[in-house]
Amino acid sequence: MQDEVILKAKNLIANTYKRFPIVVTRGEGCWLWDLNGRRYLDFICGIAVCNLGHTNRNVVNGIIAQLEKLTHASNLFYNETQVKAAEILIQNSFGNKVFFCNSGAEANEAAIKLARRYSYKKYGMGRFYILTMENSFHGRTIATLSATGQKKFKEGFEPMLDGFIHVPFNSKEAIEAKIKDGVCAVLVELIQGEGGINVADYEYVKFLREITEANDVILIIDEVQTGLGRTGKLFAYENYGIEPDVITLAKALGNGFPCGAIVGKDKYMEAFDVGSHASTFGGNPLASSAILATLNTIFDEGLLPRAQKMGEYIYQGLMKLKEKFSVVKDIRGMGLMWGIEVKGDGEEMVHDFFEEGILINCTRGNVLRILPPLIVKEEEVDLFFETAERVFGKYESRIGEIK
Ligand SMILES: Cc1ncc(COP(=O)(O)O)c(C=O)c1O
Repeated sequence: MQDEVILKAKNLIANTYKRFPIVVTRGEGCWLWDLNGRRYLDFICGIAVCNLGHTNRNVVNGIIAQLEKLTHASNLFYNETQVKAAEILIQNSFGNKVFFCNSGAEANEAAIKLARRYSYKKYGMGRFYILTMENSFHGRTIATLSATGQKKFKEGFEPMLDGFIHVPFNSKEAIEAKIKDGVCAVLVELIQGEGGINVADYEYVKFLREITEANDVILIIDEVQTGLGRTGKLFAYENYGIEPDVITLAKALGNGFPCGAIVGKDKYMEAFDVGSHASTFGGNPLASSAILATLNTIFDEGLLPRAQKMGEYIYQGLMKLKEKFSVVKDIRGMGLMWGIEVKGDGEEMVHDFFEEGILINCTRGNVLRILPPLIVKEEEVDLFFETAERVFGKYESRIGEIK
C-alpha cells in the first residue's frame, strides 16, 4: 500500500523534494509512524518546525477551539487572537510591532521590503543594498533567493534581483569594506541551517550590531530556523547579548501550523503604513491560535531550560563520537541544533540511520543535521547515539576508501 501511494505521489506532485521512501501517517511527541505501522524517532522535526513534538495537545486544542469560533475574516477587521499572538511575541522579544505572514520566505520578503521602505522614507531613492552572507539561506522566492548566498539554488532561475551583496560569513573585514552609502540593511542567520550548521562568532555579532547602528543600517536576523527555543533561548540573538532591529520567524512559530512573522522596533516597523504591504492569510485566527498556544507551551512547560539541558547532553555525546570515530570531522551547533560534519557521503549515512528507524537529514552534502524536538528525553537521545555508534562504526572500517 505504501508503494502505491509513493507511485501516485511521484506522478501527481511536482518532484521538488528528495523524499524518504515512506508515507507518514501519524505523529506523537518525538515519533512518527508510517503507513505500515513502523515507528521512527524523528530528529528532523519537520525541518525545525515541530519544536514541541508532534500533535502537542495545547496546540491541537488551541486550534480546535479557534476553528469552532472563526477560521478567517481577513485583515480588514481586528481579531483578538491575532492581538494576543502579537502581544506574546512582543513581551518576549526586543520588538514593539509585528507583521504576520505565512512562511519563512514571506517573512524575509517582508523584512527586505521594510528595510528598503524605511531607507526610502528617510533618505530617498538609491539606498537599497542589503548585505547577506555566503552560504546563507533565506527562501525560494526571487527576492529571498537573490538574498541567499548559495549558487546551487539559483541555477536556471536567473536573473536574480539587484540589490544584494554577498560577503563571507563571520568576516568583520568584509562587512567593514562593504557597508557604505547605498546599504540599508544586513540580513544574517546566527546559525546557518541549510548552509551546513555554521555558527556566528560572538565577537562578530557584537561587531555587526555596532557597525549597523553607527551607519543607520537595519540589522535583520533570520530566526526562521533558529527561533522558538531551537538554540536553548527563545531566539538565537539572546545567546549573543545583543538586540537586533528586526527578526524574521516561521517554521516552529505555529508548531506545524503554517505561519510566519516579522518582529521589529517601532522606528522601522512604522515604515509599513496602510497599503504598503499585506498578506491575505497573515495572522489569520487559526494561525494566531497556533502561535499563542506554541509560545504559551514553551513558557508554561519550561522548555527553554529543558532545551539547554538536553542540548548539553547531546553535545557531550557528540564530542565522544568525534573522539572515537575519525569519520566525524567536526561538530557544530548550539542548543538542539547540531551538525556533524563527516568524511564521505552524508546522504548515504542518513539512509543508514533511516534504515535503523532514526530520522535525520543532510545539508551541504556532508553535514548530518540533528534537530530533535525540545521535549526530547534522555532515553531517546541515547537511542540516537547507540545507532550513531553502529553507523559510524561501519564507515570507520572503510575509512581508507573514503576521500
Ligand atoms: C534560515 C531560513 N530562512 C528562510 C527559510 C525559508 O522558509 P520557508 O521554507 O518557510 O519559506 C528557511 C527554510 O529552510 C530557513 O532555514
